[in-house]
Formats: sequence, C-alpha cells, structure tokens
Amino acid sequence: MTRPREQWSSQVGFILAAVGSAVGLGNIWRFPGVAYDNGGGAFLIPYLVALLTAGIPILLLDYSIGHRFRGSAPTSFRRMSRRAETLGWFQVGVSWVIILYYTVVIAWSASYTVFAATQAWGEDPAGFFAVDYLQAGDPSTPSATVVPSVLIPLVLVWVVAVVILSLGVQRGVERANVVFIPLLVVMFLVIVIRAVTLPGATDGLNAFFTPDWVALRDPQVWIAAYGQIFFSLSIAFGIMITYSSYLRRRALLTSTGLVVGFANSSFELLAGIGVFSALGFIAGQQGVAVGDLTTIQGLGLAFIAFPQILSLMPGGPVFGVLFFASLTLAGLTSLLSILQVVSAAFQEKLGWSPRQAAARIGTVAAVISIVLFSTTTGLYVLDTVDKFINDLGVVGSAVLSTLLVGFALRRLRELQAHLNNRPGLSMGTWWRFLVGIVVPLVLGYILVRGAVSLAVTPYEDYPAWILGLFGWGSLGFVLVVAIGMTLVPWRSAVDDFVPDALPGLGGRGRR
Ligand code: ALA
Repeated sequence: MTRPREQWSSQVGFILAAVGSAVGLGNIWRFPGVAYDNGGGAFLIPYLVALLTAGIPILLLDYSIGHRFRGSAPTSFRRMSRRAETLGWFQVGVSWVIILYYTVVIAWSASYTVFAATQAWGEDPAGFFAVDYLQAGDPSTPSATVVPSVLIPLVLVWVVAVVILSLGVQRGVERANVVFIPLLVVMFLVIVIRAVTLPGATDGLNAFFTPDWVALRDPQVWIAAYGQIFFSLSIAFGIMITYSSYLRRRALLTSTGLVVGFANSSFELLAGIGVFSALGFIAGQQGVAVGDLTTIQGLGLAFIAFPQILSLMPGGPVFGVLFFASLTLAGLTSLLSILQVVSAAFQEKLGWSPRQAAARIGTVAAVISIVLFSTTTGLYVLDTVDKFINDLGVVGSAVLSTLLVGFALRRLRELQAHLNNRPGLSMGTWWRFLVGIVVPLVLGYILVRGAVSLAVTPYEDYPAWILGLFGWGSLGFVLVVAIGMTLVPWRSAVDDFVPDALPGLGGRGRR
C-alpha cells in the first residue's frame, strides 16, 4: 500500500522543524556535560573542527540523500543501491536506542519544571539531583528498584509523544516549533546573561575558552567532539534524511543547511557559556578549581548549574518554570524527529499507518526505557548508553555513509549535482573532498582509536556489567536491528522509483 508522501507546508516550516530537531537536549543538557568531561577548553577546538569538517558537510549529505530518494533512511539507501539498505536500518537502530534515554532526560526536565516553582533543590542542587531526585545507587550493584519520581514523568512523556506521533507529526511539529523555539531562546538569553554576571564566572569562562593543547592528542576528546556534533545537528542517524524527504522538489537545501547548522551551534555555545559561568561561581564558593568539582557528574551538569543560577535570580521561580518548560518542549520537538526516523522506516517497510507505527513502536520503546532508566542505577546506564551509542554508533554510521556513498557506490557527484540543481549556494569540489576523503579517513581513524580506548579503559570506571550489557550491548542491538530488518520483505513498492534527471548526469533509475 502506498500513501501520498507528507510534505512540510513551506520552506520556513521545514527550517523551523529542522532547527527544532537540532536544538534540543543535546545543546543544553549534553554539550556542557560532554565539554566538562573532556576538559572544557580542550573540547572547543575539536568541536569547531568537527562542525566545519564533518557537521555541515554531512548535514548536506543527509539532505541530498533524503531529498533525492524521497524516503526514510532504509528506503533512501535502498533506492541508491539494494545493498545499502542495511545502513539505513543501522541508523534506525541508533535512533531507537537514543529515543530510549532521550525520553528520560525530557522526563527530568518536566520534573524540574515543577521543582523550579519552589526551587526544591534548596542550597544544594548537586545533592538534590543525584540523591534526592534520582536516588542514584551504587553502580556496582545491579538494581531494579524503580524511582517513582522519574517513572511518573517518563510515562507522561511517552503518552504525549505517542499521541502526537500517531496524528502524523508534520503540522503539529511545525506549529509547536513556531512557539517553543523563540520562547526557549528568550528564556535562555536572560539566564545566560545572569550567569555571566555571577561572581567567579570568569574562572568558568576561562576553563571553557582556554585551549588545552596537550589534550588535543587524546583521541577520546576528538571522538566525543564528532559524536556531539552529529547528535546535536541530528545527522548521521537518519533524522535529516527523513525530514528532507518531506520537502518539496524545488526547496532550498544548501542555504537552509547553513542556517540550521550555525543556529544550532550558536545555541550550543551559549549553553556552554551559561553553564561554565555557573561552574566558575560554584567552584569559587567551594574554593576549588573548576576542573576539580567533585560533585559534578557530566550528564547531570545542566540540572545542577541552571538551578544554581535560578536560585540567585530575582524572579527565579518564574524564570525557572519557563526555562525548564521550554527545555522540555525543545526536547519534545527533537524527540518527535527521532521517533519519526523509526516510524517512517516501519511505515514504509511494513505498510503500517502512522497511528499503528506510533502505538507499536511507542509501547515497546516505553516499556524498555522505563525498565532500563527509571531505576536507581538508571543514571549510570544512561551515561554509558549515551557514550557508546554516540561515540561509536553515530560516528560509525557517519563513516559508513561516507564510505558507502563516496567509495562503494560512487554517488557523490550525483548528490552534489542534486544539491546544486536548485536555488541557493552551490557546493564546490571541496564538499566532495570533505565528504569523500577527509571524513572517512580522519573519522575512521578516530573511530578505531576511540573504540580501542573504550575497550581497554573502562569508561568512568563503571563496572564491567554496565559497560558490557549496556555499552557494547546497545551496539549489538543496533546490528541486530540492521541485519534483521533488512531480511524482512517490503510491503510497499520501494523500488518503483526514478530520481529526478540532473543536468549533465541524466536521470538515474533504480539499480
Ligand atoms: N539534535 C537533537 C539534540 O540536540 C537530538 O538534542
């Protein structure tokens, strides 16, 4: 059964949805934590290098694939070559894993929207987050004890997500983004301005902006930077392929990509400035250096630093509620885009309706996310899954896509012509050079070094059962999805497709 393909209502609608997908928890929650864990100033240079050498070029690669082949990741890759479908499912598997914990962090934000009204964290936001709220136990002991304060908002997040998804999200997402993104930007600016005027903020900013040249030799820092860029820009795991497949034929691609890419990173740097200013303040109060704050757990950082600032602001409760509400909504708009990757792929392969896809995928994923992440070991499991799936899964997917398109299938010239065959900026040979040579070589090397180092040195000294079961295990899950779903027969006419003709290259039918 083939349904007419949904479309964004306008170019602006797409830009807002793409920004809404990119700007999410990755910018405000993940970036400051990853930057802190990777040495603050050591992180900024790899981050910017990763944005320019791989982030923007792969964003445009994703746009060109989704827009030219007009389908979810498995459909688009299969239309390029039947042998490539598995990579599409690999990306769906990665998205699936990210969804499982992304919803949990949205649930934390939702809880904090309520806590902000009374500033429930009191004098000690760090202790409140880890001990009172998450009830984080000892990571060496497996635990199935569910924490109700996480469970309840998590169930609510799932209900909201499944309802929106089952309605078919395009118009809902477009409308939601028009309101939420501007609201978040305003709230955020106010909070960051307060943060940089805190006593001690300059120490935090120095820690954030002073490059640490020695740390640049550490492959972990580089892989973390590339992983962060891909997560944050919503690239290399199917989102932008799926989203661009809903664009009209004559849509602007390259200029849109640049707007989305730079808007996203500006927001991220702003989050870094706000959080590191607060860290400078906290470090000053404790009389220690910013890098030596022992109470800070990387991924909990935003939930410690922002409450700290809010406690010091006039009108803190009001701003706090607005801030965490906007964060929850920004997370929700990104979540919908990740869910859409999985939903579109299953709809196209198995002929499910949006409603069936939402109900089935949502139910299975909700149960898994509740079982894995709402327990007293949930924080460590989440940190591990996030590390492995981004640094190895997403980065690995980027390397595989570029090797496939550039070397195995040799379709880069065609995709470049597709980008250039519409209004907006033209991509020169440099784009093919970055995507076809620099990314696979440099990123492939970093990936191998990073994987070896994760295999040799236990991440965060977590016990082997956590790293094996959830770190390496989540990658195993992605491989099973990739291979298993490729073997399932198609229930739609996926191969009945001829891409647009291109000047100089002609039309290319299916292969
Ligand atoms: N790009 C989304 C984020 O940054 C997934 O949160």
